[in-house]
Amino acid sequence: MDSIGKTWWVLTGLSVAFLGLCGAFVATSGVAVAHGPAIPLVDTNFISTATARMSAADLIRTGGDISGMECYACHDKKNPPKLKLNAEGDVIVPKEHEDIVMGHGRHHRNNNCFNCHDESNLEALQTRDGRHLKISESPALCGSCHGPTYRDWEAGVHGRTSGYWKRDAGPIDRKVCTSCHNPHSPPFPPRAPAPGPHLLHPNLAKNHTPANPEHH
Ligand code: HEC
Ligand code: HEC
Ligand code: HEC
Ligand code: HEC
Repeated sequence: MDSIGKTWWVLTGLSVAFLGLCGAFVATSGVAVAHGPAIPLVDTNFISTATARMSAADLIRTGGDISGMECYACHDKKNPPKLKLNAEGDVIVPKEHEDIVMGHGRHHRNNNCFNCHDESNLEALQTRDGRHLKISESPALCGSCHGPTYRDWEAGVHGRTSGYWKRDAGPIDRKVCTSCHNPHSPPFPPRAPAPGPHLLHPNLAKNHTPANPEHH
């Protein structure tokens, strides 16, 4: 056999061998996936990008239900509600407002409704320095007592800013304080941590316990 003939036989042999390997790969690849452990889907609560609550400003902007903010559907403008206080001087929240749980400050220091709501116009807010604000302008109210946090918020350090980074391309969206904090009870309740990542080798990890750290 001359050298060209030898080369032909070697190349043909290699091609057939590779085709055989390809066939074996295609035939077995589906099998491995089908037998892999089922990966449960992530609870969508953990990947939601929505803020903790809908603020009055969000509700007004999106045309949501604002009936709870129409104070004069129940109250009489000429006869503002009188605060009822218990023996410790804490506000007694009437049953019509039982969805409101007051807890602003560790010593109930800011539970007086009229620290924030305007008694002469319930549908408006008032600051301690005498400014009158629309209910959608609550950040200025919060800022009248929480100056440092308000300045952080204005600078984009506290809270959440999204929208356009390049201002001439479009507007920014800065979430107001009450998109996250409930004004009546602003600290966040504790929340459960999200589950850990899915492991590549769950069976190995199961054996790798603190009682058996050397097991691989
Ligand atoms: C569904 C009816 C209803 C709506 C809407 C409503 N209120 Fe009231 N509110 C009541 C009733 C009833 C009372 C108890 C009687 C009273 O004090 O007039 C009350 C009491 C109050 C009190 C006195 C609380 C206390 O501890 O004594 C305040 C302050 C108040 N409301 C503010 C508001 C504000 C501000 C709004 C709108 C943002 C509003 N309410 C909307 C029904 C309502
Ligand atoms: C009239 C003054 C006043 C206004 C207005 C006010 N706060 Fe407060 N806030 C306080 C005081 C006082 C405390 C209690 C601080 C403490 O207990 O050490 C407090 C506590 C808090 C806390 C808890 C801080 C902590 O470390 O636990 C948060 C969060 C908060 N306020 C957010 C807000 C938001 C959001 C607004 C606007 C909707 C607002 N506050 C409006 C006076 C105010
Ligand atoms: C620290 C300031 C603050 C205090 C104190 C406060 N509120 Fe409010 N309240 C607000 C703000 C700000 C909003 C608008 C909320 C938003 O943007 O979602 C509001 C909203 C409301 C609403 C409209 C709907 C709802 O339930 O959120 C009612 C009703 C109300 N407050 C009643 C009261 C009553 C009654 C008290 C006293 C027991 C009280 N508030 C004390 C700041 C305050
Ligand atoms: C995007 C959500 C978001 C917005 C918007 C937001 N906050 Fe907060 N704020 C938080 C979180 C989260 C914490 C940490 C809470 C905790 O550890 O319990 C916090 C903490 C705070 C505290 C406690 C002290 C501190 O600085 O850690 C205050 C006071 C406060 N915020 C006020 C405000 C005010 C006033 C505004 C509006 C000018 C605002 N927040 C806007 C999410 C927000």
